Amino acid sequence: HERVFSGVQPTGHLTLGNYLGAIRKFVAMQERHECIYCVVDMHAITMPQNPTELINATRSVAAAFLAAGIDPAQHIVFNQSRVHEHAELAWVFNCVARMGWLNRMTQFKEKAGKDRENASVGLFAYPALMAADILIYRATHVPVGDDQKQHLELTRDIAQKFNNDYSDRIAELGLGIEMHIGRETVSGYFPLTEPVIEGPATRIMSLRDGTKKMSKSDPSDLSRINLTDTADEIARKIRKAKTDPEPLPSEAAGLAERPEAANLVGIYAALADMESDAVLAEFGGKAFSEFKPALADLAVEVLSPVAGEMRRLIADPGHIDGILADGAERASAIAAPVMADVRRIVGLGA
Ligand code: TYM
Repeated sequence: HERVFSGVQPTGHLTLGNYLGAIRKFVAMQERHECIYCVVDMHAITMPQNPTELINATRSVAAAFLAAGIDPAQHIVFNQSRVHEHAELAWVFNCVARMGWLNRMTQFKEKAGKDRENASVGLFAYPALMAADILIYRATHVPVGDDQKQHLELTRDIAQKFNNDYSDRIAELGLGIEMHIGRETVSGYFPLTEPVIEGPATRIMSLRDGTKKMSKSDPSDLSRINLTDTADEIARKIRKAKTDPEPLPSEAAGLAERPEAANLVGIYAALADMESDAVLAEFGGKAFSEFKPALADLAVEVLSPVAGEMRRLIADPGHIDGILADGAERASAIAAPVMADVRRIVGLGA
């Protein structure tokens, strides 16, 4: 049984990277899968947040899901903190994951910076909560951008160690499921989740530096396109985007060693749902002064309906809260029996 889960943090403004790398894929996966999409507000507080802004940002990410085309009647849209099994399973996973595994996480190293002694314990344990988000639904597929790859490998490691540590007990209780991994068939309680990291937009880069990821937390607003930017802001940011002096090459191979050019062509390709080669067949040999306005027009054409719908939804917070409450209730109905199994497997409670 295939089930999709993914999450987005309600911190800062959503970017074009979040949209192309994740949210648009969430929309595409609804056609053929059962999907659960979560606003991970408990992950947000691993870094300092203003409480009122956090609540608004949570609604705003939910609005982005809906505006992009996620159907909350067919699928589940909710926020993490309303389903307490996430926190409960995360505790069990804190006791499964090893310090050494979490110490290797590059996102922790980046976010904690030099002053590690002062980072929250939650920031360190972040990936165990993420594994709990996914595995409390026994999800099999997780669409994400490239930056989450390491966290998803850790999720598999946690599932595998749990399955191994408790294999006798899982068998005794008859709670194992069979999984096919390559040519092998193994049994365990938690599936080994597959990351879904595909397409031209797995890693959208900063508009100011083609070697850095486009990020909600970059201090320069010119480095990113926010989902809620106006048409003028989008055009201005693309006009100011860093480039090199050469015209565009006529094949994707010519983008090697040209990170800024590669990024802009990749963004165009993702927005137009084309291959980079097809974009270059059209724009090869042309200067950025010609390519950038075409890219800006395309970005506005794709993003402005989403931004407009988001604004309309955010104007009625009661409606969004209703959707989140309903989603949480349906998510709990899946999560509660899984947590009950885990309690029996581990030996918690009489
Ligand atoms: P977050 O909130 O940082 O980002 C949400 C999603 O957007 C993707 N993304 C990008 N993709 C391409 N290019 C970019 N520049 C870019 N920036 C962000 C991210 O890869 C992600 O898919 N830890 C997660 C949230 C999370 C989660 C989960 C995800 C919590 N629990 C369980 C999946 C499953 C995070 O911080 O994403």
